[in-house]
Amino acid sequence: MLTMKLYGVIGDPIGHSLSPVMHNREFKELGMNAHYHPFHIKGADLETAIKGMKAIGVEGFNITIPHKTAIIPYLDQIDPLAQAIGAINTVVRENDQWIGFNTDGEGFMRALQAEWKEELENERVLIIGAGGAAKAIFYTLLSKGIKHVDICNRTVERALNLINSCPYKGYSSALSFAEAEDKLNEYTLVIQTTSIGMYPKIDQSPLSLARLNPQAFVSDIIYNPFQTAFLKHAESQGAQIQNGLGMFVFQGALAFEKWTGKMPNIERMTETVIRQLG
Ligand code: ATR
Repeated sequence: MLTMKLYGVIGDPIGHSLSPVMHNREFKELGMNAHYHPFHIKGADLETAIKGMKAIGVEGFNITIPHKTAIIPYLDQIDPLAQAIGAINTVVRENDQWIGFNTDGEGFMRALQAEWKEELENERVLIIGAGGAAKAIFYTLLSKGIKHVDICNRTVERALNLINSCPYKGYSSALSFAEAEDKLNEYTLVIQTTSIGMYPKIDQSPLSLARLNPQAFVSDIIYNPFQTAFLKHAESQGAQIQNGLGMFVFQGALAFEKWTGKMPNIERMTETVIRQLG
């Protein structure tokens, strides 16, 4: 009998993770003898947990808040993009070594390409926010040759640090919200990465979209609520919009592919997550 392959996600908290249902359905539908388990791991137990997972034969796992950076010293190898981002969301076991990747930024990009268009090199991009999610997206876009990506943030210095520390070079400016609002019509792609729009800030929007180019594509990485006030506003201006569900599904699908060599069914994964969200 073939042994069941084990995968999972580690985080603290972990109870609300949608990943187990999403991956386990794909394992089942694809006839794979595998299981994906949520592991609630506290920071103090991180090193022991990583060693323990190797000892018991776990094949690969995801990492979520708050361990995405703290895990780095406990891995054997880090993919260069993940190293630059400084955060890991996917670990793959290869020749008994743990190799760390970051599929968040690429997940975002693949979702964008699936819902909008394949060719992104000439887009004029504005990223709103300069936290961890913004960093993964910014670095990934630049690493793929998209050169015109500005960042606006409440704390402009944080946006500037992000640009200056990026090993992939482009033509980026760090802007205040007021500056970004002023030149908003120059952007063909606007990406909202802050927590504004999530509970309890569901009625808030990070910046005014009064000058939004109606031809622009507007993305918000939040998917709960399904449509933020920001996205509703963008849609009312005529823009094409996208929430964060695609990014979530694709980061998971890319991890699945790294572990198993198979790309899962994106439509079915999306449907599983939507059903789980209720
Ligand atoms: P994550 O890793 O999830 O991206 P983070 O590192 O805490 O989270 O970053 C949160 C982002 O949301 C930052 O860009 C933050 O702006 P600051 O760098 O100025 O703190 C932004 N953010 C959060 N709450 C905000 C608010 N009320 N107004 C403006 N920006 C906010």
